[in-house]
Amino acid sequence: MLRVGIVGAGIRGTMYTRALREVPGIEVAGIADPADRAAERARDELGVQVYPSHRELFDRERLDAAIVATPDHTHRAPAVDAARAGLHLLVEKPLATSTEDAEAIRDAVRGAGVECMVAFENRWNPSFVRAREAVASGEVGDVLTQSARLSNTYFVPTRMLSWAGSSSPGWFLMTHIADLALWFSGHEPTRVYATGLRRELRARGVDTWDAIHALVTFDDGSVASLESLWVLPDSMPSIVDFKYQIVGSRSAVFVDQQDQMSWQAGEQFVFPRTLLLEVDGRPQGFSTWMAQSFARRLIGGERLEPTVEDGLRVTRLIEAVHRSLDSGSPESIGPQG
Ligand SMILES: NC(=O)c1ccc[n+]([C@@H]2O[C@H](COP(=O)([O-])OP(=O)(O)OC[C@H]3O[C@@H](n4cnc5c(N)ncnc54)[C@H](O)[C@@H]3O)[C@@H](O)[C@H]2O)c1
Repeated sequence: MLRVGIVGAGIRGTMYTRALREVPGIEVAGIADPADRAAERARDELGVQVYPSHRELFDRERLDAAIVATPDHTHRAPAVDAARAGLHLLVEKPLATSTEDAEAIRDAVRGAGVECMVAFENRWNPSFVRAREAVASGEVGDVLTQSARLSNTYFVPTRMLSWAGSSSPGWFLMTHIADLALWFSGHEPTRVYATGLRRELRARGVDTWDAIHALVTFDDGSVASLESLWVLPDSMPSIVDFKYQIVGSRSAVFVDQQDQMSWQAGEQFVFPRTLLLEVDGRPQGFSTWMAQSFARRLIGGERLEPTVEDGLRVTRLIEAVHRSLDSGSPESIGPQG
C-alpha cells in the first residue's frame, strides 16, 4: 500500500483525499493544516489523522508521497521538505510564485531523485485532450496564434480564497492557460508584454490585480494572447469564464468551457458544472482523473507529468508577466535550464 500525505486541508486537499480513496493500492495516511477549522473539518468529514504542520506529518507518518495543496505563495517549504525526505510529489499550480522558489523545488526534486508532478489539471480536461490530439496529429498544422481567457467573478478573490491578496489572477488563473499555450505550442516563450490594473479589488480590501492582459511571443514567431480577470460580476451564470482558441496553418480549434452543456433558469440563471461532479456517489471529472492518474502512475512506478520543469517554465513566464505589469515594457524570458 502506497501512503500519501496531503499538505493543506482546503478545497483541493479535500478533493485529493476523496479522489485517492477510489484508487486501490493507495492510502491517504494523514493531512497537515495549521488552521483549526480546516483541521476539524478534515477530521470530522474525511476521517483522517490531521497534523498542525507538514513537518509533523512527514515525521510521524511513514509516507511514500506528498501532495502540496496550500495557498499559491506557500508551496516552497513543504515541497522542498517533502523532496528532501525522499517523497514523490504532486504540487498544486502554480509550482511557486517566483522563479527562485520554483528553482529551489526543482533542485530539491532533482537532488533527491524523486518524481514531481504539477497539477495542471486541464491536461485531463476532455476539450483540451482533444485539442492536443488535433495539434499532435498534424490536423491543426503549425500553431500560429493562441488566444485564451480564463477569469473569475468577484466571489473567488473576495470570498472563496482568504489569501487572494498574496496571489493574483496571473498566478491563480493565467498559469492554467500559460501551461496549455506551452503544451500546444511545443516552443519556448521568449518575450511577454502585459498590461493590467489594480483598482476594484484594492477598494474591496484585496490588494492585487483586477485584470491582466498578456501578449506572449514564442521562439518560432508564433504568438499567444492571455487574459485573466478577477472582477467579473457575481451575476455571471458561472464563477468561471473559460474560452480558448488555437489557429493553425491547417485548421482552428475553439473551446468554450463556461457553458458546460447545461443551463438552469430559476431565481438566478446558472450554468451548472457538468465537468466536475459526483456520479453514483463517486467523484468524477478532470481534477479527480488527474489525482487518480498521479496515484496509478506512482503505483506503476511510471514517470509523472506535467513535470517540475513544466511548472518552472510556467512560473518563469508568469513572473515575466508581473515584471512587465510593473515596468510597463515588454520583458524577455531568460534562457531555460
Ligand atoms: N489545479 C487546479 O485547477 C486548482 C484549482 C483550485 C486551486 N488550486 C490551487 O491549489 C492550492 C490550494 O487551493 P485551495 O483552493 O485548496 O485553497 P484553500 O484556501 O481552500 O486551502 C488551503 C489550505 O491550506 C492551509 N494552509 C495554509 N498554509 C499551510 C501550511 N504551511 N501547511 C499546511 N496547510 C496550510 C490553509 O489553512 C487552508 O486550509 C492553491 O495553490 C491553488 O491555486 C488549483
